[in-house]
Amino acid sequence: MSARIVVVSGSAREESKVHDVVRIAATTARAAGAEVREVLLHALALPMMDHGDPSQGELACVKVVRESAAWANGFILVTPEYHGNMSGCLKNWFDFLYLELAGKLAGVIAVTGGGCGDMSITAVKNSFAWCHGFTLPFHAAARGPDFKDGALASARVNDRIQRIAYDVARYAPVLHKTFNEARELGAGQESGVAGMHL
Ligand SMILES: Cc1cc2nc3c(=O)[nH]c(=O)nc-3n(C[C@H](O)[C@H](O)[C@H](O)COP(=O)(O)O)c2cc1C
Repeated sequence: MSARIVVVSGSAREESKVHDVVRIAATTARAAGAEVREVLLHALALPMMDHGDPSQGELACVKVVRESAAWANGFILVTPEYHGNMSGCLKNWFDFLYLELAGKLAGVIAVTGGGCGDMSITAVKNSFAWCHGFTLPFHAAARGPDFKDGALASARVNDRIQRIAYDVARYAPVLHKTFNEARELGAGQESGVAGMHL
């Protein structure tokens, strides 16, 4: 099984530094042999998720989000840090999803003004876990001073982003295959979390 990775840009704005990080992550994941799709939330213009409005499921932008997440076995999620949290538009992406993320692997990267990114990274990891997904045990943060003219200039951060992309490509297919095998066991305790998603 090969890696199928969705790289999500969690920025609502076109000029965002997030896009250069997405470019590096996607290029590296392709170099690692993965099939890659990029979901650029500023271009999709998703509506605010309304749980009481099932007609949102018919919108082309919502179908892109749900179908790409169902297709993927791994994710690289890139968020700008806003007020010590992930961006509203990335949280909105999560709110359109649940089981599409279960049993899959995510790498998480934050772009901050100057903070260490721990708060937004933890927020993204929490939401992914609450959808029963797994996250890499390390992450990356690119701060404002790490960029020059909108491009990432820090070799140290670039190195970390590439390690994340290689690891998501390496482990995502293995994890998802194992999760699917566990699901085959049925709903009993021996299937673990996978049996909760039949
Ligand atoms: C509403 C808002 C809240 C922010 N909160 C933080 C923050 O908590 N910590 C931080 O380091 N930077 C913060 N920033 C700065 C952004 O993280 C920084 O601009 C980052 O580059 C976001 O990506 P972009 O501006 O390139 O789209 C904030 C910016 C905005 C607009």
